[in-house]
Amino acid sequence: MPVECFVNQKGGCSKSTSSTHYSRWLHSKGHSVAVIDCDAQKSSAIWVEAMRSDSFDIPVFTLTTPDDVLEQVPDISDQHDYVVIDGPGGISELTRAILLVSDVALVPCQPSGLDIRSGSDAVRLIKQAQKVRQGEPVAALFLSRAVKGTTLKDEALAVLNELGYPVLSTVIHQRQAIADSFGQQATVFDMGGRAASDCAREYDKLFKEIQTLWPAKS
Ligand SMILES: Nc1ncnc2c1ncn2[C@@H]1O[C@H](COP(=O)(O)OP(=O)(O)O)[C@@H](O)[C@H]1O
Ligand SMILES: [Mg+2]
Repeated sequence: MPVECFVNQKGGCSKSTSSTHYSRWLHSKGHSVAVIDCDAQKSSAIWVEAMRSDSFDIPVFTLTTPDDVLEQVPDISDQHDYVVIDGPGGISELTRAILLVSDVALVPCQPSGLDIRSGSDAVRLIKQAQKVRQGEPVAALFLSRAVKGTTLKDEALAVLNELGYPVLSTVIHQRQAIADSFGQQATVFDMGGRAASDCAREYDKLFKEIQTLWPAKS
């Protein structure tokens, strides 16, 4: 507990990058974490496997059907402090199933008109889940891959704020170090240099904010 998912039917908005960095960050804080990759492309499963070592040995599951998600995630969650789900592009039925088993839903949105719209599609699915589950999952949107200094970012934040869900105050910017991290079989937390540590600081802030969304229920 809790199960936290990154969902948005739009591809390329950084679901896999966020999931992988978040699971790495949670593990570095001493939590037991499982990653569930629900995308047939298996980006986060491949990424986490590539980083596997004696000191980073977390389980990864690839679940690509609604039945598998509904049947297996509750059991996986019983065995870990955190479960991080990397949502699929496109397939709404799978996203629906993910939202039925998640405690926290995070929607990364790229700051362009079309991408913000796909964020609102995800919001619709979240609202449906919350209706049948008496308010769960807790949900928030955040801006990802924003280009520094553009007005698009401010406009996008204004549109996101109108969708009726909290928008996290941390914005993840478009950064070369983040784009390079998959190829380096690492996260920005593991990469050296000033550029990577700037990105690590941004992610650290985002993940701390995410942690405030889930009040400990025990
Ligand atoms: N903040 C960022 N800065 C630069 N590139 C990014 C950032 N976040 C993601 N990317 C790149 O964008 C592409 C899509 O990201 P990905 O996490 O695979 O998205 P999704 O899982 O939503 O399809 C990848 O090539 C990734 O390296
Ligand atoms: Mg992905």
